[in-house]
Amino acid sequence: MAIKKVGVLGLGTMGHGIAQVAAASGFEVIATDATDEFMKKGLARIEKNLGRLVEKEKIDAAKRDEILGRIKGGGVKDFGDADLIVEAVTEAIEVKKKVFGLLNDVAKPGAILASNTSSISITLLSSVVKEPENFVGMHFFNPVPVMKLVEIISGLQTSADAAQVATEFAQSLGKTTIAVKDSAGFAVNRLLIPMINEAFCALDEGVASAEEIDQAMQLGCNHPMGPLTLADFVGLDVTLNALSVLYNDLGSDKYAPSQLLRKYVEAGRLGRKTGRGVYDYSK
Ligand code: CAA
Repeated sequence: MAIKKVGVLGLGTMGHGIAQVAAASGFEVIATDATDEFMKKGLARIEKNLGRLVEKEKIDAAKRDEILGRIKGGGVKDFGDADLIVEAVTEAIEVKKKVFGLLNDVAKPGAILASNTSSISITLLSSVVKEPENFVGMHFFNPVPVMKLVEIISGLQTSADAAQVATEFAQSLGKTTIAVKDSAGFAVNRLLIPMINEAFCALDEGVASAEEIDQAMQLGCNHPMGPLTLADFVGLDVTLNALSVLYNDLGSDKYAPSQLLRKYVEAGRLGRKTGRGVYDYSK
């Protein structure tokens, strides 16, 4: 199946990046969010990102305008001619189920529906759509324009054709794909989230300061960000949620969330997005 038009549901941290890279790779994009205000914010973020690329002389103004011209904001009702629709709404089962329920009345037969979920079962989400064989997981990473990987997750009912279409689409965005089983945390979060949790445990036990724990992994292992900075970047609520999925689904105490991580979330210190997490971003 040739993909020409891509729908993006949700223009937050992940969705706006997905819409941007799809348009930059030549696809027509229709995008929406829960409210007009969120949608405008997401579209403005894309414009700002592309503006930065112009300032850095990576693209010229004409290219920026061409890319922006391929992205249209609209409502779910406008997704009827999309060949592939990527959902990147709030990481909550009920919200995602509701959104896919809405698509049932709109998406054309044969359209590939993809979820960018980082932790919810693809098989479970596919159970609410009309064509579960055309449902697949496409897990992008933040920041989407920079991160090279996309995990392609096949649920119990995903057809080989649908996984292939999603794989080729991700590759056409310049991404490298890996095929992953529909299992808690997929591949990346299965490894990354326990490491971040361990960093909170180490901080809680006074093994070293937050800065030193981050330096340990940056300078000792060449990670671009230390685990606590990365947790603030990803969101402590998202991190705790992903950890809870690992703990509940895989049933091992090794995934038990750090008490300190829980306390930060209870305090509303969710990371960069709230101005404070492990570190203070208010200034
Ligand atoms: N959007 C677009 N481009 C961005 C960007 C953004 N939000 N943030 C940074 N960049 C670009 C910069 O423009 C710069 O590009 P050039 O080299 O072409 O000029 C490049 O990335 C490097 O940026 P900086 O020099 O500003 O800063 P840096 O070298 O510290 O890199 C980083 C920033 C790319 C975010 C880097 O720190 C990094 O790779 N961190 C780890 C990110 C990571 O692990 N992401 C995965 C999170 S897990 C996840 O997403 C999934 C989940 O389910 C939880």
